[in-house]
Amino acid sequence: MIVKARLITGVVLFVFVLGHLINHALGVHSLAAMEAGREWFTAAWRNPIGTTAFAGSLLIHLLLAGWALYARRSLKMSVGEAFQLVLGFSIPIFLALHFAGTAGAHRIFGTNDTYAFVLLAQWKFADYGVILQTGGMTAAWVHGCIGVYFWLRLKPYFPDIKQLLFGLAIVIPVASWIGFYAGGKEALALYEDPEWRRAMLAVAQPPDANGVRQIYDLALLFQIIIGSLIASALAGRGVRSSLERRRGTYLLRYPNERTVRNAKGTSILEASRLNGIPHASVCGGRGRCSTCRVRVLEGHDNLAGPSADELRVLKRVGAPPKVRLACQALPFGDISVVPLLPPNATARDAKRRNPDMSGQEKEIAILFADLRSFTQFSEQKLPYDVVFVLNRYFAHMGEAVELAGGHLDKFIGDGVMALFGANTDGDSGARAALTAAKHMSQKLSVLNTQLGDELNEPLRIGIGIHSGPAIIGEMGYGTAFGLTAIGDSVNTASRLEAMTKEFGAQLVFSEDVASKAGLDVSGLTQKTAAIRGRGEPISIYVCENAEKLSLHS
Ligand code: FES
Repeated sequence: MIVKARLITGVVLFVFVLGHLINHALGVHSLAAMEAGREWFTAAWRNPIGTTAFAGSLLIHLLLAGWALYARRSLKMSVGEAFQLVLGFSIPIFLALHFAGTAGAHRIFGTNDTYAFVLLAQWKFADYGVILQTGGMTAAWVHGCIGVYFWLRLKPYFPDIKQLLFGLAIVIPVASWIGFYAGGKEALALYEDPEWRRAMLAVAQPPDANGVRQIYDLALLFQIIIGSLIASALAGRGVRSSLERRRGTYLLRYPNERTVRNAKGTSILEASRLNGIPHASVCGGRGRCSTCRVRVLEGHDNLAGPSADELRVLKRVGAPPKVRLACQALPFGDISVVPLLPPNATARDAKRRNPDMSGQEKEIAILFADLRSFTQFSEQKLPYDVVFVLNRYFAHMGEAVELAGGHLDKFIGDGVMALFGANTDGDSGARAALTAAKHMSQKLSVLNTQLGDELNEPLRIGIGIHSGPAIIGEMGYGTAFGLTAIGDSVNTASRLEAMTKEFGAQLVFSEDVASKAGLDVSGLTQKTAAIRGRGEPISIYVCENAEKLSLHS
């Protein structure tokens, strides 16, 4: 409800600012064009509906901004959020005088705030009039643009329109500044003509000196109200903190047994922020993006049920039970959670990531690859050379995996772990894993040719592949968070990779992989192998050179 009210009032105010800037931009043509535009603008906003919409939105938006400042437990926030907050509160400070001198003067003294009159007030009479006007409009525009960005970037069509929006975000204020400058210069020139001056003042009906003082007082009052709102929100935070300290704390446990203690009433996301724990929050904790979502492992009963808004977002991403938005969940007792998206998750990740990735058992193929004799190589080379060669190797192997449609799980030392079939099925996964092995072998040959003299001997690789059920999901902690797999099948694949040394072969894979992939195994050596931790030996194939695998599409 609060989120919606903030959004709706923000949109109304943004439309107002947009209209105002476009009106300014007409000054590029002439003062008369600005005035003609103003008539449309005032017709739209100075009527019972327009005035109520604007004044109501301004009031509600300001109160909600004060509430947001009070409600958030932590003032740690992204640069974009901080910028938006500071700009938002600075707008009334900049524009209070403009507001009092136009709408206020019109209402109190019946002043006709024509463009000529207002521009002259800013360019000639008011102290810092130009600076306040330019600063205020810029702050309002940038604040609004950040808000629009936070809102629209979660929409599926945003990538298609973002270039256009970015262009407009630049062009509109620049045109407005130029129009404001040109209009001001024209008004100043016309002001030198006594007849024009008399006519302009007769139309404008400006307030007398006493009235001008009242306008300044009104602007000051407006600024004091805004200042008081900010001060009240900050003071309220202090009072709340001391009350909460008395109410007690709760213990929040993350993966890796990291625990933090927080005052009751602190959301899980705020607890992460307060304790310097990276946590995804694309929408800044507004309950819209779902990137902060966590699985509650223990203490689910220590959370109040989700609100209708939170439920709607959870439903949208297909979240299973016991998954909550960290920014909305307020624990009142000890709780243990696992963040489901990595801290650097983007808006796109929130949708693209399969909700099942929060944990499921699935038939997949797992590939392990390791460089042979690389320890020897690294002992003979400078660290710089080792890192250079390794990075080239990782790039080639990563491409091979991705080319085959696999998921690069991790690099472990000079080894690679990759998963296949996480988004398809076991058969496709097995086939993709063998394809990746073939690509890896081909790319290694290319790399050996490229590196040539830098190597004492060509790089050699051992690859092991097994297919079977594994628990896959997004696991980890902090920045080391991502899709991975665990289970017996993973261990088996790792052991098969180790066996390549024993057989002096490039690739060893299980019979399961061959049959699921429908591989022509003629010419390959079949063996049985005992795998530590498995009761029965398994049937495997040994392939000296994975480039020679006969994979038919
Ligand atoms: S931070 Fe966006 S929904 Fe929680």
